[in-house]
Amino acid sequence: MATVFLGTIVHTKSFSEFESFESGFLAVDDKGKIIGVGHDYQAWLSSSPLQAKDLAEIRLSEHQFLMPGFVDCHIHAPQFAQVGLGLDMPLLDWLNTYTFPLEAKFSDQQFAQEVYQSVVEATLRCGTTLASYFATNHLESTLILAREAVRQGQRALVGKICSDCNSPSFYVETTEESASATLAFVEEMGKLGSPLVLPTITPRFALSCSKALLKDLGDIAKRFDLHVQSHISENLAEIEVVKGIFRTSYAAAYDEAGLLTNKTVMAHGVHLEDDEIALLKNRGCSVAHCPASNTMLSSGLCDVQRLVGAGVTVGLGTDVSGGNSVSIQDAMLRALDVSKHLDVFKKQNIRGTGEAKTQDPSYVQLKYKQALYMATLGGAKALAMDHLTGNFAVGKEFDALLVDVSVVTHPLRRLNVDELVEKFIYTGCDRNIVEVFVAGKRVKRGSQPE
Ligand code: GUN
Ligand code: FE
Repeated sequence: MATVFLGTIVHTKSFSEFESFESGFLAVDDKGKIIGVGHDYQAWLSSSPLQAKDLAEIRLSEHQFLMPGFVDCHIHAPQFAQVGLGLDMPLLDWLNTYTFPLEAKFSDQQFAQEVYQSVVEATLRCGTTLASYFATNHLESTLILAREAVRQGQRALVGKICSDCNSPSFYVETTEESASATLAFVEEMGKLGSPLVLPTITPRFALSCSKALLKDLGDIAKRFDLHVQSHISENLAEIEVVKGIFRTSYAAAYDEAGLLTNKTVMAHGVHLEDDEIALLKNRGCSVAHCPASNTMLSSGLCDVQRLVGAGVTVGLGTDVSGGNSVSIQDAMLRALDVSKHLDVFKKQNIRGTGEAKTQDPSYVQLKYKQALYMATLGGAKALAMDHLTGNFAVGKEFDALLVDVSVVTHPLRRLNVDELVEKFIYTGCDRNIVEVFVAGKRVKRGSQPE
């Protein structure tokens, strides 16, 4: 049976376009597709072949609204086992000390099953309806992650990590092993039988992949028209090593292997040069902004306005466990924080922030509605999935959150539409997300108000 939600509905149409329907409606058919959205339910109904009796009505309270599901453009599923721990080092030391030893343990499929079940549960609880996951080098346990996303009904891109050099001896593949396991992974993913979960080609980062491996992965991505994800220009020490090995810019190292496509998302991009940003834009690549991780690993302040201004699509990533939170709602807040810090650096000549190029009196802070865009439609675009999800256009799949700001945040009066959204972004948590839908199916069911 089709369903209609009656109440406050919000979504975004672009980085600068937010749209809301107060006392609006959103109708979903029994296949989980959006068949109507707008201000006037009666007018829509009278022009529809459906009658009121064909639609199950869900009426939202004055403290509730419906919004598109969150998109996490960059999350390391195995690292959920250490989320919130070991955040006292910069990237390369952190990888060697904590992360590679942890990921090596995913040769144990029982351990993988436990961690992957909990990370999918946790992200769904926080409203992530689409996640782009890095797994580990292991084929079998990466398939366990994909099956877990299917079982719990989450939309996901899942990548078997590839790394064949500059890695510890206990966690590295040969070039041939990495490429052939990737091919086997793509083939096995085809047998999953779910349209929600797809494979994505995943070189860990240029530093841990030989030129030959990057080229093999670029060829596989092209042959099967697959998504691609990796890291780029996250940390200054890392960038120096990559430039030394490849004798090109970080972006060119990927481009020479054919890995920069319109289905590629690169995490971080904190320190990209102008010509690299232009290259990403020309290839149609996107950036996953991971503000929590960039702070926790002391990587830097990523200037989202600069990327967006150059025409690059930007989504948000939690980057668990470089990032300490699995929540994209938290990532919105952190992106807003980073933008405020950048504003201070750019407008005031703060001692120690140094370089003239960081000064920019015309810098404009991100707005909370732009953070909402990056958390939803921007993320869907970054993952080349916006034909399916990201906002409430008719024909898209119903990936949505029912938010209730009366849980936890206690509004003291009736809030208008903008205030409901603002309140949720600045004070909300997973308990405000009372229901979560993916492709029309309820994957988190209402919790009771306190
Ligand atoms: N670069 C290469 N691997 C990683 C990782 O696991 N996390 C982060 N934040 N950056 C990386
Ligand atoms: Fe990462």
